[in-house]
Amino acid sequence: MNLSEIVPVKFTGDKMLVLDQTKLPGEQKYLEMTTKEDVFVAIKKMKVRGAPAIGVAAGYGLYISLRDYDGTNLNEFREKAHKVADYLVNARPTAVNLSWALKRMLARLDDFRGSVSGAKKLLFEEADRIRKEDEQSCRKMGEYGLTLLKPGMGILTHCNAGTLATAKYGTSLAPLYLGQEKNYRFRVFADETRPALQGARLTAWELSKAGVDVTLICDDMASIVMKNGWIDAVLVGCDRMAANGDGANKIGTSGVAILAKEYGIPFYMFVPTSTIDYDTPKGDDIEIELRDGREICEMWYKTRMAPVGIKTYNPSFDVTSAEYITAVVTEKGIVYPPYEENLQKLREK
Ligand code: MRU
Repeated sequence: MNLSEIVPVKFTGDKMLVLDQTKLPGEQKYLEMTTKEDVFVAIKKMKVRGAPAIGVAAGYGLYISLRDYDGTNLNEFREKAHKVADYLVNARPTAVNLSWALKRMLARLDDFRGSVSGAKKLLFEEADRIRKEDEQSCRKMGEYGLTLLKPGMGILTHCNAGTLATAKYGTSLAPLYLGQEKNYRFRVFADETRPALQGARLTAWELSKAGVDVTLICDDMASIVMKNGWIDAVLVGCDRMAANGDGANKIGTSGVAILAKEYGIPFYMFVPTSTIDYDTPKGDDIEIELRDGREICEMWYKTRMAPVGIKTYNPSFDVTSAEYITAVVTEKGIVYPPYEENLQKLREK
């Protein structure tokens, strides 16, 4: 498969289209976004998901929410843009790329002097730049990531940090795609990733379509595949990394990291610099999204999977403490501990 065939967010003509990831792998259906509410719901309901792809959707989303403004007053246009951004930013709390992309769009707009039509053009171009930069950044992370791996290695993944979660290639799946081009013959084990099954529905789908050898396992099987000696490295993405190197990623990631340490397996977190939040000092300060308990009780079967009225707790992410992360792979290079110091140095690069 050509990776260009899977595009989570795209602009075709004047249409903003989002691939509905809740329908994968059964159906490949694009939804047209015409209002800010469409974009908000697409992000909240995880039709578009994965930190970088959420950032891309937010950029284009801001543009499509404002393009029909028919006034000529730039100040009023700016105020409207800030209001739309204040609305969109609340769609999901954990992935920092959402606020990062919106802040970047607004900063460009606030600096702009000219007509409203010029401002609209500028917003579209900035959104497009965010998408293109993400693609380049993922490619770079893939190249750096590949230097940590050897042909034939067994790799464990959690959630989906692939092409579906980004503009192209993915973050932690990027080295697997680049390795595939070089006939590295990785053996990938994909955690299914309850409750939304991004591993089963998305990672297993996109890797197998690309011809990568992938075996799906349930989340509670990570320990046995490590114990069997089948895993040489764990590769995961990140939704927000604090300044001290603690990284929030899909729920269950921290457990995998703890297991990896126990078995002496390197644990690599792939973090584009757009996902590093220097304003958040440590992982405990990261807001963890709590999702509807129905995802645990009734999402995947026609009959309920749990007693009616049962109490639920459904955090969507957890924080992997920096001490469990062997290295952080960014588009600017690989960062090793001490993270507090070395992530600061990266900022200046
Ligand atoms: O709830 P999701 O599907 O948006 O969670 C996605 C993840 O946790 C990914 O691993 C993370 O966003 C990195 S994507 C390159």
